[in-house]
Amino acid sequence: MTLAYEERGSGPALLMIHGFPFDRRQWFPQVAGLADIRTCVAVDLRGHGLSLDEEPRDYSMDQFADDVAATLQDMGVDQADVAGLSMGGYVAFALWRRHRARVRSLILSDTKAEADSDEARAGRDAAAKAILDEGMAKFHTGLGPKLLGDEPPPEAVERIEQMFVDTEPAVAAAVAIAMRDRPDATADLGTIDVPTLWLHGEQDKIMPIDAARTSAEAIAGARFVAIPKAGHVPTLENADAVNAAMREFLTA
Ligand code: MLT
Repeated sequence: MTLAYEERGSGPALLMIHGFPFDRRQWFPQVAGLADIRTCVAVDLRGHGLSLDEEPRDYSMDQFADDVAATLQDMGVDQADVAGLSMGGYVAFALWRRHRARVRSLILSDTKAEADSDEARAGRDAAAKAILDEGMAKFHTGLGPKLLGDEPPPEAVERIEQMFVDTEPAVAAAVAIAMRDRPDATADLGTIDVPTLWLHGEQDKIMPIDAARTSAEAIAGARFVAIPKAGHVPTLENADAVNAAMREFLTA
């Protein structure tokens, strides 16, 4: 499937993949802020945003990565700088495994390489059930605040809530199961031989920064940048710091 996307700017492509349960809007400050150095492309993964899917089921990170590769091909883009936040990072790892010739460089944000533990897998089942039974607004009430840092800007709070409630429950439930079943990417870290930047919110409660630092160290030459005043979604919580780090990396 080819994906809907937001595009702005000119020059080499910078392809941005959102987390869960978000859509392309999670990257809007970067689309706006980096358009002078890149053709910024923020995709909506299958079922999200404008990439409508009538029958959401049996998703996988591999399938999402194949959709991203098909979209690049459709755009006539051979290679892109690829950025992925959280679940977008899982998709970026899958893209690396399956379509690495398309990846010029990697920008990972608030993600992790490890597969889910048994406890986390059980949590995914419970989340999928709760989403289907109670809807996205209720799901947001529980998870939304945990995603944010200590003093999130109001526009970040608002956009995150909007993306939650705009996601179809059937899609979110299928994606929770797809994340449950994603493969461990730890062994992939050592195979990454393109320039890599790892950004991480200093106040990320979902994926603590120390573990992320250790994963980044397993990627040869990776640059690690801690983003202050941000939790799990630094692209919205501290867009200026994210844009500055990405700009420095992309122009280096
Ligand atoms: C995300 O932001 O994409 C999720 O926190 C990822 C996850 O639940 O593993």
